Amino acid sequence: MNSVTVRVPAKVNLQLAVGPLREDGYHDLVNVFHAVSIFDEVTAAAETGVSVRVEGETAGQVPEDDDNLAVRAARALAGHAGRSYGVGLVIRKAIPVAGGMAGGSADAAAALVACNELWGLGLPLDDLLEIAADLGSDVPFALLGGTAVGTGRGERLTRLEVGGTFHWVFALADGGLSTGRVYAECDRLRAAGGERVARPRVSGALLAALRDGDAKTLGAEMANDLQPAAVTLRPSLARTLDAGRDLGALGALVSGSGPTCAFVADSEAHARELAAALTAEGVARDVVVAHGPVPGPTVV
Ligand code: C5P
Repeated sequence: MNSVTVRVPAKVNLQLAVGPLREDGYHDLVNVFHAVSIFDEVTAAAETGVSVRVEGETAGQVPEDDDNLAVRAARALAGHAGRSYGVGLVIRKAIPVAGGMAGGSADAAAALVACNELWGLGLPLDDLLEIAADLGSDVPFALLGGTAVGTGRGERLTRLEVGGTFHWVFALADGGLSTGRVYAECDRLRAAGGERVARPRVSGALLAALRDGDAKTLGAEMANDLQPAAVTLRPSLARTLDAGRDLGALGALVSGSGPTCAFVADSEAHARELAAALTAEGVARDVVVAHGPVPGPTVV
């Protein structure tokens, strides 16, 4: 085999409950991940060294060296196999960069799947999940796709049953937000407010809404503890969220650490209407319609 191409989806967090800061610098989470139909494509081709090239409108914002998470994924997989395999990676980006939709994690997951195939390793998903957890908290979910709840740093996953398809509108912002900075701002806001931080718990009502395919209840129950921090660091997001709510979204929240905002709609037609109205409001760099859940990395 000379090359393998893998298509991999973005995610939105339907519930992101953040516990106290741990000694290792991370936070215990309850993180309900949901894969949506915005896709990057990663091609892995046989080569001697490890290299990466990034294509797409936002390519300039993604490193093309050893800092690239897909490169780190390929090296980690080769290390796991105990061999010095080479690969030339090409990433075609559509997932917003540093947008709170786990684009980098998606590329890493796709690289693991593509190189596993290219190098004929045949490693099972459980081995890839272990390697993924060392690469980043969101990489294991990016391997899984669908809808799942993550605990620990977000890397311990349980798949969730979803009774239907949900329709989404995403408002993309100019420039990204650093995940670490948003978590730090969350800690700062909590300390300043004298808040006692509880152990994160999954919302039973949210799980029921997912099971029932009930977009209205889902919209009401979605919650993101990082949202106040993201809005403090990027005050314009308050206007974007308000605009979506005023225009009839069933629910609105910042996706992960932001700055992408996510709106859930009643139907595909409703999502298209809402996207057109949000575009007309001029509250986002770009507005994208998508649906979820979708499967994880798929060889194309
Ligand atoms: O795991 P990942 O490299 O994606 O995390 C990026 C940053 O986000 C971490 O360095 C940490 O500051 C923050 N983080 C956290 N708690 C988590 C996940 C991430 O504080 N559960």
